[in-house]
Amino acid sequence: MKLQIINGPNLNLLGKREQNIYGDQSFDDYFKKLKTKFDNFELCYFQSNIEGELIDKIQEVGFDFDGIIINAAAYTHTSVGIGDAIRSISCSVIEVHISNTYSREDFRHKSFLSSHVKGVILGFGLKSYDLAIESFNQ
Ligand code: DQA
Repeated sequence: MKLQIINGPNLNLLGKREQNIYGDQSFDDYFKKLKTKFDNFELCYFQSNIEGELIDKIQEVGFDFDGIIINAAAYTHTSVGIGDAIRSISCSVIEVHISNTYSREDFRHKSFLSSHVKGVILGFGLKSYDLAIESFNQ
């Protein structure tokens, strides 16, 4: 089963950025562990700080892969375009967040993705991604 992980803006700084919220592990290190743990999946990883590049990736894989696991980061709360891209494709999409966005500022309570995805997993740290992958296990 082929899954694409897509991370949005500033998630390239995981491990350095606001460690009290996002932890001290880089996503590259974490992704190596994910690939070992879930060796029954073909896992691909893409990160961009640019909204249009995230939309391009969703369109590129959205008709061929079995699933997308997306953390659109700040664009979650602003992007009609990413929401529309998710509506336009055929594969299952899981929205993830590292932090519990509902326990944070009000502007983080709104997601332009949530109503178009299969499910949302948030607040479990990087483990949110593990749980999202698990959800594709038969
Ligand atoms: C985030 C939460 C967003 O509100 C924030 O802008 C991020 C990361 C998370 O994973 O907790 O950059 O998506």
